[in-house]
Amino acid sequence: MSTQFEHLFSPLQVGPMRVPNRICETTNTINSSQAPGLIDEHFIAHHAAKARGGTGWIGSETWLLDSPFPPEAPDEVGLSVGFASHWAAYQNPAFAEGMTKFFDEVHRAGAVAITQLTHLSAVWAPSPVVVVGAQDYTPHVIGEDEIEFFLQSYANAAAAAKALGTDGIEIHCAHETLGYSFLSPVTNRRTDRWGGGPQERIRFVVAALERVRERIGGELALGIRISGKEFRQGGFDNLAMREMLYYIGETGLIDFADVDVGHCWGAPSYVPSSYYAHAQFKECGKAARADLDPKIKVLFSGRVNDPVVAEDLLKGGYCDLVGMVRAGIADPDFAAKAREGRLDEIRRCISCTRCIDEASEPKTFPYTPTCSINPVIGNEVRWGKTYAPAAAPKRVVVVGGGLAGCEAARVAAMRGHRVTLLDRGKRLGGQLLLSVPVPGRDDFEDQVYFEENQLERLGVDVRLQTSADLTTVKALGPDAVVIATGSVPRVPTDVPGIDLPHVVQGWDVLAGKATTGERVAVISQEDYYETPCVAEYLTDRGKHVEVFHKSVHLGFEIARYSIGMVHARMEQCGVVVHTNLVLQAVRPDAFDLVSAYGVRNYEKTGFDTIVLVYGSVADHALYDQLKADGSVPKVYIAGSAWLPRFMAEATRHGASVGLAI
Ligand SMILES: Cc1cc2nc3c(=O)[nH]c(=O)nc-3n(C[C@H](O)[C@H](O)[C@H](O)COP(=O)(O)O)c2cc1C
Repeated sequence: MSTQFEHLFSPLQVGPMRVPNRICETTNTINSSQAPGLIDEHFIAHHAAKARGGTGWIGSETWLLDSPFPPEAPDEVGLSVGFASHWAAYQNPAFAEGMTKFFDEVHRAGAVAITQLTHLSAVWAPSPVVVVGAQDYTPHVIGEDEIEFFLQSYANAAAAAKALGTDGIEIHCAHETLGYSFLSPVTNRRTDRWGGGPQERIRFVVAALERVRERIGGELALGIRISGKEFRQGGFDNLAMREMLYYIGETGLIDFADVDVGHCWGAPSYVPSSYYAHAQFKECGKAARADLDPKIKVLFSGRVNDPVVAEDLLKGGYCDLVGMVRAGIADPDFAAKAREGRLDEIRRCISCTRCIDEASEPKTFPYTPTCSINPVIGNEVRWGKTYAPAAAPKRVVVVGGGLAGCEAARVAAMRGHRVTLLDRGKRLGGQLLLSVPVPGRDDFEDQVYFEENQLERLGVDVRLQTSADLTTVKALGPDAVVIATGSVPRVPTDVPGIDLPHVVQGWDVLAGKATTGERVAVISQEDYYETPCVAEYLTDRGKHVEVFHKSVHLGFEIARYSIGMVHARMEQCGVVVHTNLVLQAVRPDAFDLVSAYGVRNYEKTGFDTIVLVYGSVADHALYDQLKADGSVPKVYIAGSAWLPRFMAEATRHGASVGLAI
């Protein structure tokens, strides 16, 4: 074992539960089951992979508990938006059977399983105050009968989880939950015994803990998840959290406190993006520990993607256990690799937040969890069944070293093929490299390091600064070619003046190939991160930036967990955003816009440079030539060369091609 991680890999007693090491998969409802309401093979494969990969604490996915409505008269609003159901999944014998199988699998891997119990709170709460801005319902105010129902439902669920084989229970009192809305002075305005100062606002949580403890006895660990700091106006800070936690700890009911920060929207959200430093809010862990009986262990989470950072947190006294959810999504084996000193083999989470964005707003059914850089996520079962060494090693040529090309090369080489990768650039990474100089995106380079290390380790013949055409590719005598030549920036064809010299491409700005004047107009025809990145890159260099964006807000495709962080960032940078506008014409000293949904025209003046962010178009010329030529036995296309989308699509497509060759 590597001596570098003596704290991280030391076991810890948490109440009656012995955790084999300090690495925790805190609960993450990534929706890994493809059978709604059941624990299927996909769920087990996804979460148990982390246990087998060395994570000691497996929180898997939350148990959403039942609503007080009778089954014959459910509340349609609550049901349709997924905040409640009249019965909780654990009451279904098939769910229970799957859960037991899962707990057994976790235990076989030497880890412990924690069950998180959740009542969401957008539809009901202690007071008629909107719980989080992302959901604008003024909630139904719960009365004594309903409080009694909720308390009992935690107890019933805990008893069920115990019977199925869990090691610990966590009552969810952070994020947008009922427990949270009792703890917060913003959402709890009650004047009865459930509201008031910190000692009164904890009453609901303490009552829930009492009910649960009565049912589980001393055999399971019991704790709460609590926000370390609310990050909302009038909300509690880490000092007030520390006080509430002290009172809760004094009841003797809890064995652990699981601390994170943020909401299911806003800035930071509780799944902080790469805009935040690693473990930026670690002081909340320390604050939680300050007054607690040391028997009560503190878990801290929030953008810890690296075992070195985790070890430092433990060594520095910030916490007793470290949450590392996305670290395990990016690489379920990261803990084992760290233990064995194989740090350069870890695929580090880049905190792009695609995992939570997709899981919170699934667009497909059945849904499969998504990770921008790990192609296996959500496809564990398929990979388990189809991954196999190549029957006969082939000579494979991959053209393009972006995400798709690297993944195709990596997987093909892992399977035993002899792979040559050609790329025009000085470095692997393709489009990913464009993001690296953008403030708050430097973590993206970690994926480039990962691919560089892996391709070298696997013996892929990487030829950089090498152009590929029909002749050079054929000269290599390949059995199979993968075209992963990516895409090129889109230039609007119907805008007069678009070729004037003060009009440049966003990609060229990020690549350092184009410079701008002091006053920059960014014309945005894309709804993801490209425009915010270009805008921030420019403000970071002292430019005045105004964005003229096509839709109702910048980052329209970014889900609610992440969009707040983008807008906060734009505000901090002083980027001025104008929405619902489309470029019509460019002149040397002005440009014209038209309203996206109307007919009004606007003339804008006073800008030195116009930067276009229009997305990109596939570059598949070489694929077409190879197909027409017909002499290479097998020609594949992967990633943006086929269809420019996001990172995860390129990663998966490339890896799937690598699997198929
Ligand atoms: C896809 C996804 C789903 C999540 N669902 C939950 C949840 O159901 N309950 C919860 O308490 N936290 C949830 N979280 C938050 C994580 O437990 C964790 O606090 C967060 O990801 C920050 O830790 P990390 O930086 O190690 O990823 C979720 C996170 C992700 C990425």
